[in-house]
Amino acid sequence: MAHQWRGVIREYADRLPVTEATKVITLGEGGTPLVHAQKLSELTGSTVYLKVEGMNPTGSFKDRGMTMAMTAAVEAGAKAVVCASTGNTSASAAAYATAAGLKCAVLVPEGKISMGKLSQAIAHGATLLQVDGNFDNCLDIARKLGESYPVFLVNSVNPARIQGQKTGAFEIVDALGDAPDIHVLPVGNAGNISAYWKGYKEYSAPFESATAGTLPAVSTKTPAMWGFQAAGAAPFVAGHPITEPDTIATAIRIGNPASWDTAIAARDESGGFIDAVTDEEILDAHRWLSAKEGVFVEPGSAAGVAGLIKKHAAGEVPSGKTIVITVTGHGLKDPQWALRTEDGSEVQPVKVPNDVVTVAAELGLEES
Ligand code: F0G
Repeated sequence: MAHQWRGVIREYADRLPVTEATKVITLGEGGTPLVHAQKLSELTGSTVYLKVEGMNPTGSFKDRGMTMAMTAAVEAGAKAVVCASTGNTSASAAAYATAAGLKCAVLVPEGKISMGKLSQAIAHGATLLQVDGNFDNCLDIARKLGESYPVFLVNSVNPARIQGQKTGAFEIVDALGDAPDIHVLPVGNAGNISAYWKGYKEYSAPFESATAGTLPAVSTKTPAMWGFQAAGAAPFVAGHPITEPDTIATAIRIGNPASWDTAIAARDESGGFIDAVTDEEILDAHRWLSAKEGVFVEPGSAAGVAGLIKKHAAGEVPSGKTIVITVTGHGLKDPQWALRTEDGSEVQPVKVPNDVVTVAAELGLEES
């Protein structure tokens, strides 16, 4: 019988803080495609794969953590959840809160989240407040609400989120048979780089499961973690928080990442680095993915690919290796960027009459 993917908690229950009795809140997240990136592989001489996280239920990797956070919220008896977001966390929280029967409040920076993400939170019935400030300000407020008011915080400062998100690393190792040599991803609030590193570490050593005894190591190695921030929002590159982060990649427009220490640990323990890419490099990579690989992502999600292309141009990408890049969110979240040409003008689809001969002529086809 065909196997129906059961969501990350049930698939990886023996490696997550859940028991048989846990009431699991899931929308079937995870199990996302690991796509061979032909053109990036040709470019680098390494075997490059894309972990396509836009295929999650709400269109981003956030669902992996949200199934755990919402499950924990229900377990804790919460009636309402809150999060700060650049858009994807709010879309995910709103959907999972609906599945859990909880109220959801989301705080987003005014004017700085994409229409797709905004509409998701509204569609799922969340109370959405646009804060006159940036993401970092929103997160400050959300944390204070979680501390002093009867609402459960579902941002990635909640360890349940990181637990869920580590399953991305498990899936990659399970698909490849071992860990890749290099793992590349965008870095914003830095929860995901922390979560992947946790997952890779746990899979490379015997694991003390709460429910299944000692599980053997699954992988023989761990990858170097290569993180990329947007140049206008690159606190890890600066070495300190940025007060006015700015980038067209609104998903990663973050100046004061919450998971600072764990991201630095991921970078250093793995022998990797965190670097920055310009908005122009991000948009070039966004176009590369759509036009050459057939994978449509939102701009922030292309930062890892932009970074790989930049490092390749500098002669810093080894050949003959296995490289996985997490592309974090779906292109339909923020589709306007696809309708812009390289010179910044708007793409105008050609209009034709309702007539096959004219359409054929427009397509350059001759009758066979
Ligand atoms: N890519 C996308 C599409 C994101 O939405 C985010 C973060 C990141 C990358 C960065 O991941 O924060 O774990 O380093 N989005 C958060 C949000 C902040 O509110 O949706 P990170």
